[in-house]
Amino acid sequence: MATPDLLWQVTRNDAAKSAEARAAILADPGFGKHFTDHMVDICWSEKGGWHRPRVQPYGPISLDPAAAVLHYAQEVFEGLKAYRHADGSIWTFRPEANAARMQRSAKRLALPELPVEYFLESLKQLIAVDGDWVPTAPETSLYLRPFMFAKEAFLGVRPAAKVNYYLIASPAGAYFTGGVTPVAIWLSTQYARAGKGGTGAAKTGGNYASSLVAQAEAYDHGCAQVLFLDGSGTYLEELGGMNVVLVTKDGRLITPESDSILEGITLDSVLQLGRDRGLKVEQRPVPLQEWVDGVASGEIVEAFACGTAAVLTPISELKGEHVSIVMPEPSGERVSMSLRQELTDIQYGRVPDRHNWLMRL
Ligand code: PLP
Ligand code: COI
Repeated sequence: MATPDLLWQVTRNDAAKSAEARAAILADPGFGKHFTDHMVDICWSEKGGWHRPRVQPYGPISLDPAAAVLHYAQEVFEGLKAYRHADGSIWTFRPEANAARMQRSAKRLALPELPVEYFLESLKQLIAVDGDWVPTAPETSLYLRPFMFAKEAFLGVRPAAKVNYYLIASPAGAYFTGGVTPVAIWLSTQYARAGKGGTGAAKTGGNYASSLVAQAEAYDHGCAQVLFLDGSGTYLEELGGMNVVLVTKDGRLITPESDSILEGITLDSVLQLGRDRGLKVEQRPVPLQEWVDGVASGEIVEAFACGTAAVLTPISELKGEHVSIVMPEPSGERVSMSLRQELTDIQYGRVPDRHNWLMRL
């Protein structure tokens, strides 16, 4: 059934940053530190459905202290990027996939599903007012963060009858402070991220809250990210905010299949690019031991992390209480770096978009 057209109300920010202030931020955006001048807000209520879509000045959200999200974490979010092409136009990458995943996450968290058309329109509306925030320097982008949460003031435990969807945007450079250099990963043995039947496959704040102590452990051990195993401690799952892929000497891409990890859109795209060049893709349960043995025997030659924020980043080593894997130095160009190049070439419009992954904003 077609969703009704929503009538958008746009209120310009009178206190928008000056062009000079914006340029200073875009010159060195970092990740997630600065925000554009506007945000999107769409209301949902049990009785009225989705209504009152608006673009308004970026600023604090007023919440009742009893708002359900503050107590029971009924929340989901997404992450995607807007890229500036050489001719100045602005594009995003596979936004329908993010919209669909947000619907799946919402369903799991008993939140209303935002129609895909509204999700896509929210991106267009925000870029229409904040397009100047999409940076031009190589490898920079505007990170788009849609999110939705339970706003109803009610302490009973049930799905909220009042929910809001928001979209904010933040100019982004490299996610890891060292740029695109190989990163060390910490293997969490004490903490699991998700379990069977849990919320691991949903993009919901609680999964990230529960990863923070393990992530802090990773930093303490000089590692940039944490890798989680499944509840049995046998199989690889994913990193705190990225999927993981192993590359074999004979050209296979191996990545965990599990119903408790996030279905990464970067991962799906990279696997497709791999298939396009004749690499074999294996998506199946992957025991940690296979990685240990594969590196020892010389069969596994690379490992990398992938996600919207991190793009593709090679993994240099995996450290843990009982495990230490040091990835070999590559003999030629890394498969991960070559896939990264191809993916970003598509995203930035430097090569044809043969899979029709881009949407103009
Ligand atoms: N896994 C987790 C836990 C994530 O937070 C992310 C990032 O969004 C990913 C995987 C990668 O997903 P995507 O490539 O869609 O950004
Ligand atoms: C993303 O890549 O979009 C994420 O949400 C992951 C987070 C580590 C920023």
